[in-house]
Amino acid sequence: MRELARVVSAGKKSKAQIRPPGPKGTPIMGVMREFNRDSLGFIERAQRDYGDIVWMRFLYVPALFLYHPNEIEYVLATNAKNFIKSMSLRSNFFQRLVGNGLLTSQGDEWKRQRRLTSPAFHRERIAGYAGTMVDYTKRLTANWREGETRDVHRDMMRLTLEIVVRCLFSADVSNDVDEVGATLGELVKPFARQATLKWILNNRLPTPYHIHFHRLAKKIDRVVYRIIAERHAGGSDKGDLLSTLLAVRDEDGSQMTDRQLRDEVMTLFLAGHETTALTLAWSWYLLGKDTDIEEKFHAELDEVLGDRDPTFADLPRLKYTEKIAKESMRLYPPAYGLGREAIDDCEIGGYRVPAGTQVFMFQWSTQRDPRFYDRPGEFMPDRWTDQFAEQMPRYAYFPFGGGPRACIGASFAMMEIILVLATIGQRFRLELDPNHPVSIYPAMSLRPKDGVKVVVKSRD
Ligand code: HEM
Repeated sequence: MRELARVVSAGKKSKAQIRPPGPKGTPIMGVMREFNRDSLGFIERAQRDYGDIVWMRFLYVPALFLYHPNEIEYVLATNAKNFIKSMSLRSNFFQRLVGNGLLTSQGDEWKRQRRLTSPAFHRERIAGYAGTMVDYTKRLTANWREGETRDVHRDMMRLTLEIVVRCLFSADVSNDVDEVGATLGELVKPFARQATLKWILNNRLPTPYHIHFHRLAKKIDRVVYRIIAERHAGGSDKGDLLSTLLAVRDEDGSQMTDRQLRDEVMTLFLAGHETTALTLAWSWYLLGKDTDIEEKFHAELDEVLGDRDPTFADLPRLKYTEKIAKESMRLYPPAYGLGREAIDDCEIGGYRVPAGTQVFMFQWSTQRDPRFYDRPGEFMPDRWTDQFAEQMPRYAYFPFGGGPRACIGASFAMMEIILVLATIGQRFRLELDPNHPVSIYPAMSLRPKDGVKVVVKSRD
């Protein structure tokens, strides 16, 4: 009998030898079609049906979906050295858009770029941006009229683009924001529908879509190259990030080429505005749906600020506003998924993961997981007590990613979101337009499909 038991256990494979469970999909495409049809639904179903570690195949590419904070921490932080950005971020699409900027670069090049860029995001520097954030918000709302209907998502995109360009590059793009916004909207549309196929095939054929895409990307290039050219022509050190990048010298004395500069500027231009605009748009949407929370928000603004403009020094006291921002990013994380690729074979959750596997983690799912959040689908800013934040697993909430590649602009973004919410909330209530249903459009980021339409009501 004992002999038989030994034979049975010898035949049993350890977890490290077997593949995690997961959907098979179809013989050639794997799960690609199903994923592209409804990516958020697919992400949710995969966890429900197979658990916290799910294996699948997109065409010939093996992929792992991770849902538990422990494994997410392992990939993003503890064992970050064994992972590079996923093939989606290395695709032609991203290369054409942001080239080899901070978001996409790797290894020593990334380290150098991160070191150079970091000072622009230090606390003392960020404090100096607060006035610009409030001034631009007041300028935006100066023409808002009582009772008019506005697309607040569009307004926030415009505003955050102006702010990031002014703060980091001391430039004004007021005349370009509408074109950039419309171009970006166009750029992500086809990509959203066929994302996985695009990064896997990664072809450079002159298809009508590629020709269209390159034409659109060129439009944004023009704005970025203009900012660089103006600075070259002006020649003065404005003490901003662009001046720092222009002044950089390698050991051999060489400077950044215009192409490298363009990649850095474009990266911050894109990474630094859409995500923040989305958090603001989703916050207005959530506030518009809950008058009790909205009243509490206004009460904090009245108590802390009264009629005066918010400043950097007010941030520690705008606690409820900060909780609104955090809770909004929990429910509608602008970056709703992150991807990495394993460089060497490794072990995740006891399973062996071969080199080359694409590993994906989803803020969308983990931040709505009932194991970590009571009533996970509800907008409850009050859940964010210090005690709650301390006891939860670190990677149950990661809207800004984590580990060495965590968002460099997280503090900048938090400050901007709080100051913009406060400046607008002091003056206006934004009522949701009942004739405009809001739905989610998971493109590169989590967008509201046709914007968020609101009716402007003065608080005076
Ligand atoms: C609510 C607003 C924002 C969200 C949710 C957000 C989210 C993220 C996330 C999740 C990552 C990590 C990507 C990965 O691990 O693959 C990231 C990286 C990055 N973000 Fe943000 N971000 C925001 C605002 C900003 C702002 C305001 C800036 C700049 C002004 C910025 C610049 C960057 C850059 C340059 C990186 C790449 C950092 C590196 O790899 O070293 N982000 N962001």
